[in-house]
Amino acid sequence: MSVQLTWLGHASWLLELEGKRIVLDPFLENSPTATIKPDQVQADYVLVSHGHFDHVEDAAAIANRCSATVITNYEIALWFQKTQGVQNAIGMNIGGGIDLPFGRLQMTPAIHSSSLPDGSNGGNPCGFLIRSHSGFTIYFACDTALFSDMQLIGRKGIDVAVVPIGDLFTMGPDDALEAVKFISPKAVLPSHFGTWSPIAQDADAWATRVSQETAAKGLVPVVGQPILLK
Ligand code: NI
Ligand code: MN
Repeated sequence: MSVQLTWLGHASWLLELEGKRIVLDPFLENSPTATIKPDQVQADYVLVSHGHFDHVEDAAAIANRCSATVITNYEIALWFQKTQGVQNAIGMNIGGGIDLPFGRLQMTPAIHSSSLPDGSNGGNPCGFLIRSHSGFTIYFACDTALFSDMQLIGRKGIDVAVVPIGDLFTMGPDDALEAVKFISPKAVLPSHFGTWSPIAQDADAWATRVSQETAAKGLVPVVGQPILLK
């Protein structure tokens, strides 16, 4: 079965896997780079990596309209249910995994912060490791610093990794290159850049460095353009 990934701008992605539509960290309504609005997104699952506005902002609206299930950490799942009227939410914690209709999803560590827009405790930030039924593995590092345990996340083999390169709030391009060496995926895509000038980066130059300096192939996403990964 084919695997398709579409960058929705900033750190927002649409993953189409095993016939399911999985949206990660939707930030569309107020994103300067998004090319679609939240009401144009169809989702079966909405993954939320942490509580910051540029990751939670459109998650509840999309989930409620699509009757999608939100998957996030325990604290944010409760917050979505109590304050955002989200019907279906699964709260997890770091290291935990869950078997879903598209495969297995595991919550991975991320080094960042996670307060929610209203000041509520957003638990700990996370990344997501997804292994589909057909064995395709994708790792979203989400907002994070570089950490050496990325080697553990990659130890069973990863087809595609998505890592932040924006700097300032997350890893910048140099640390993201080190991250690729730790994760050792077959291909990698940059995220969390270009939305605002403080996180502007040259994604083409970074992807070229990835291809030259690591074993991975560096890919450059274009907002709204689906990439066939398998
Ligand atoms: Ni953040
Ligand atoms: Mn962010």
